[in-house]
Amino acid sequence: MPGYLRKWAGTLLVVAPTLTMAFAAGNPPSSSAHSGNSANNKCETSTLGPAGVKMHRGLQTRTSYVIVEEFAHDPSAFTQGLVYEEDGTFLEGTGLYGKSKLRRVDASTGEVLVSHDLSADSFGEGIVAVDDKIIQLTWKERKALVYGRQNLTLLNDFKYETVTGEGWGIATDGERLIVSDGSANLFFWDKDTYKEIPESRLLVQDGHGNAVKHLNELEWAHGYVWANVWLTDDIVQIDPASGKVVAFHDFSALFPHHLRVSLDQVLNGIAFDAENDIFYLTGKWFPKYFKVKICLPEAAV
Ligand SMILES: *[C@@H]1O[C@H](CO)[C@@H](O)[C@H](O)[C@H]1NC(C)=O
Repeated sequence: MPGYLRKWAGTLLVVAPTLTMAFAAGNPPSSSAHSGNSANNKCETSTLGPAGVKMHRGLQTRTSYVIVEEFAHDPSAFTQGLVYEEDGTFLEGTGLYGKSKLRRVDASTGEVLVSHDLSADSFGEGIVAVDDKIIQLTWKERKALVYGRQNLTLLNDFKYETVTGEGWGIATDGERLIVSDGSANLFFWDKDTYKEIPESRLLVQDGHGNAVKHLNELEWAHGYVWANVWLTDDIVQIDPASGKVVAFHDFSALFPHHLRVSLDQVLNGIAFDAENDIFYLTGKWFPKYFKVKICLPEAAV
């Protein structure tokens, strides 16, 4: 991430808390389908209307979703990683030097239950929970932090290499860790040794065969890798075998642009509740978490 944005980031923290009020006083998305459906967590046939179909980067893309619920997110959290746990909590990792944290948050109210500070020389990035551990990447420190999943106690750390030398997002398919570094590459690591699996790197490409750069926070859902794309509110749905993007999901309507105070205040943070097929989305300094049912065409599930 360019230095000038990071610099803004520091000063804008002061402004961020006022966003909650601006957001509340504005015209927040109501608890209804983005395409005008009534409030529930079901994708009705009417939700999948043709209005949402558009061409984007060589793909015919249609995203319909139902906002099931929205609730407060700490607007000073520069969110870099979000994981849904079966006990109804989130694990959330945040960034910025001197402000990075690993947290456990109530996933129905947004209340911060536990908060662990990173050392001031570490810029926190994506997080993943695997077996009894949590792994948190750092931006440029080439170091991942390993915590106990239940107690959030820092246990150890390990070194890693990527193409850019940075760590951005991390997720798991249950067997492998999947990592992004701000480029268009995905990296696959053994979940037990944290070593990169040989010949496993994947170049992510759009419908024109062009690389999709700035892959950020990652999630695994429905057999696909879902990635935030830095400086946009797009989530790309990536086929993990070919690297091809099958859909761009546009969530820019969740937080109106005129209420944002920085170019860097973008969607980042995808958590998936597999049991209920529910996504939780938020962003850097976003005032809300959004509990969302994404209505996928049968072919893409
Ligand atoms: C925290 O959890 C980890 C992983 O389960 C465990 O190895 C460690 O001993 C625990 N630490 C404390 C202080 O309870």
